Amino acid sequence: MQIITNLKEMREKAREARAGGKTIAFVPTMGFLHEGHASLLREGRRRGDVLVLSIFVNPTQFGAGEDYETYPRSLERDAAVARETGVDIIFAPDSREMYPEGYQTFVNVDQLTLPLCGASRPGHFRGVTTVVAKLLNIVTPHTALFGEKDFQQLAVIRRMVADLNMDVEIVGMPIVREADGLAMSSRNSYLSREERKSASCLNRSLAAVAYNYGRGVTSSGLLREKVMEILAAEPSAVVEYVDFRHKDTLEPVERVSDDTLLALAVRIGKTRLIDNMIVGRGFPCREKC
Ligand code: PAJ
Repeated sequence: MQIITNLKEMREKAREARAGGKTIAFVPTMGFLHEGHASLLREGRRRGDVLVLSIFVNPTQFGAGEDYETYPRSLERDAAVARETGVDIIFAPDSREMYPEGYQTFVNVDQLTLPLCGASRPGHFRGVTTVVAKLLNIVTPHTALFGEKDFQQLAVIRRMVADLNMDVEIVGMPIVREADGLAMSSRNSYLSREERKSASCLNRSLAAVAYNYGRGVTSSGLLREKVMEILAAEPSAVVEYVDFRHKDTLEPVERVSDDTLLALAVRIGKTRLIDNMIVGRGFPCREKC
């Protein structure tokens, strides 16, 4: 396994692989890897001859007062996960090389970035699409894998790739959860023991919607009330949004159907957590929840 920090070197490796008739699979991340990232890497290993993992805490997708400085970082730990999942190249660029002085080009997807996390984190998706476009240009993968944990991000990236005629296949992967149903996230490391317990209110909310939808409740207003009841019972939880939207257009829906996305963003203490499910698929819970 190689660790490359230099853009030119990464580009040359990618060119060599392509010239040798090899396919490149790519998993972009901000590091502090967990089982969610590992699931993407394992699928990437299956799909490409050369597997590239990028680790880059991208400054342009963090707003003022967000956690850019404190975002957990550990290359040593990440390298162990990368080795175990069969990564060939870790690409860990320096932010001064990614955004040199005079940098002024940004990629923006319009409509899909307006609701949900786009509304509560202005400029966030502009930073995501910009860095992902840059990484795709440098790594030139045949396939790039993203998690449904960040459902809106995946939709926005699919849109960008289609709209800009980028020659890459985007693969979406299911959410990997802890035993109690909490979606894995690098940010879970911020939670105290008490907060970690409270955080299960997110997946309990999804489970409640799956249960009620299964019994025929389709009013998004009623289902939203069920969620708000569960979240209100958790003193440390502050709701940012609880929204029912069409899974492709992200337009709001009144009548929930199998194609509806339920998306949540909730702050537990200082930690912002997100979760979601496609209502028709039901909620996959490993234990009782
Ligand atoms: P990061 O949060 O590190 O996530 C990297 C990838 O792992 C994303 O595609 C994310 O959806 C996926 N992922 C995270 N938790 C997951 C889980 N529990 N189950 C399945 N997949 C999961 O998302 C980013 O980084 C950045 O915005 C990035 C795309 C790298 C651009 O900077």
